[in-house]
Amino acid sequence: MIPERFIEELKYRSDIEQVISSYVPLKRTGRNLKGLCPFHSEKTPSFTVYPENQSFYCFGCGAGGDVVTFIRKIENLEYVEALRFLAQRAGMTLPEEARDDGTALLRTKILEINRESARFFFDQLAHGPDRRAIAYLRGRGLSDKTIKRFGLGYAPNTFDSLKNHLKGKGYSFEEMAAAAVVGKGKNGGYYDMFRDRVMFPIIDLRGSVIGFGGRVLEGDGPKYLNSPDTLVFKKTRNLFAMNIAKNTKEGSLILAEGYMDVISIHQAGFDNAVASLGTSLTAEQARLISQYVNQVIIAYDADGAGQKATRRAISLFEETGVKIRVLSIPDAKDPDEYIKKFGPARFKLLLEGSAGAVDFEIAKLRQKFDLETADGKVAFLKEFCSLMAGINSPVERDVYIIRTAQELSVSKEAVADQVAALRRRRAGAAEKKARRDIRPYSESAAGQPRDLERSRNIRYALAEDKLITTLLKHPDFYDAIAAKIRPEQFVTQKNRELFEALWQRLQNRQDIGMMSLSALLEPEQMARVSYLLASAEGVAYTMQEAEDCMKTILEYQSVKTPDQVAGMSNEEWLEYAKSLAANKK
Ligand code: UTP
Ligand code: MN
Repeated sequence: MIPERFIEELKYRSDIEQVISSYVPLKRTGRNLKGLCPFHSEKTPSFTVYPENQSFYCFGCGAGGDVVTFIRKIENLEYVEALRFLAQRAGMTLPEEARDDGTALLRTKILEINRESARFFFDQLAHGPDRRAIAYLRGRGLSDKTIKRFGLGYAPNTFDSLKNHLKGKGYSFEEMAAAAVVGKGKNGGYYDMFRDRVMFPIIDLRGSVIGFGGRVLEGDGPKYLNSPDTLVFKKTRNLFAMNIAKNTKEGSLILAEGYMDVISIHQAGFDNAVASLGTSLTAEQARLISQYVNQVIIAYDADGAGQKATRRAISLFEETGVKIRVLSIPDAKDPDEYIKKFGPARFKLLLEGSAGAVDFEIAKLRQKFDLETADGKVAFLKEFCSLMAGINSPVERDVYIIRTAQELSVSKEAVADQVAALRRRRAGAAEKKARRDIRPYSESAAGQPRDLERSRNIRYALAEDKLITTLLKHPDFYDAIAAKIRPEQFVTQKNRELFEALWQRLQNRQDIGMMSLSALLEPEQMARVSYLLASAEGVAYTMQEAEDCMKTILEYQSVKTPDQVAGMSNEEWLEYAKSLAANKK
């Protein structure tokens, strides 16, 4: 961590106007400056610098932030590197990170301990006295080469073997506990976290061991025990085997549910399988995947939970723009079992035939209805048409419509007409809505991914924007706002994260200037902060308005989804409609 005092000082010496004007010719217009945006090509200047709050924002492409964000983007640097860059420019020396609070040093120690533990587990597996784990892995069909490639291991069935081993290497118990390979008991004693388990090291993109998953061999306890988050490990940000899969030439990644699935797929000859780490897929993981490949193949378990997780993953990937395919696994519960039963060649065929997201949705719909009955067919077609109406490519629509009409022996024209009518109706509604939202949010500007969560919840998102802007402009409203709403109650994730960051600083009575925010926020979020401030130019934000925004956001809790509404009895529905009307007053 770089001390705040240093950043403050750097801020005074890195005037945004001076820094940016060495890259972009700026022209003064009133209090602000304008220029041609360096981040996208344009002929009329929409890139604006606001000296007053030391920020920039481009109305053309949505780039924005403070001086650090600017340097990160234009020089393509990480946060600390950008600080170093600015420090050099300002004639200051970046304080040694390690000298600050020891965090950096502890981080290095944890990485060493993790590596040493992985080595220990591997040795126990390969040469230790207890041969059950190696027998187990071989019994599951893993070759010695695979075991080595993934660095699998065995944690002995004792409370102190790893602890003593690490002690012998000179590490303290506190350090071992910080790495979470050792736990601290209530009486203050330390004990090995993983006992009698097959160990799967989790390795990050740089090749460091950052955590472990441990599978139970015999006896009780959870089937898999995973390292908790530590200074070096955030499970929502990492993927199992990404260190290997990132180098694939396939252009796609296979996303499986479990460690063993990934390992089996690799052993079957595919170097592009990954899995999340004992939690369901997160937006960050989806984004990470989309940064490496343009196609993802979801290969989750065949059971209900796997199918549910597939839907969830599809919606996360939709927001990243990556192409989605879904592998449905016949006659086996997961890829590991499939490969064992039918062999790598069949798995390859399965992969080549893996259906797209639409096929997956259609297959799910078919299961929902009894297509042998007329009623079932009608109900199925209704939902099918609705699904088709959401597809923008006419050719793609035709493919599904023709195939499905044939399979159900209904007229293709009738189905196509129905879909066309639905599309016209939806287009009309969308146009009306667009006219209502007078100020379109700039994330839909060229080059920016569309934010589906946001567009689905635009009413709440706009209220959230306004509340955040109010807080940015009037940090002194914090207490009044904090009394009424908490970050968890925000509807859209991006705003929730942003609000959370402001919240935490204000709670600790720290300032929320652009410079302190860029230490906490990713460039994308910094751009949003700038966007909000840029649109707030010359507008007064009152506490009264903030109250209205909070009311709107909190209404979300009481609004039901269309599916839930459809499932209500008439009485429930009336009751519900009344409660909403009451809220509005
Ligand atoms: P599964 O139960 O499908 O396990 O959980 P698996 O990978 O097929 O394991 P084997 O084949 O029985 O050995 C899938 C994933 O869910 C997480 C793990 O990441 C696991 O790989 N999980 C499962 C846990 O974190 N904890 C558990 O207790 C169970
Ligand atoms: Mn399995």
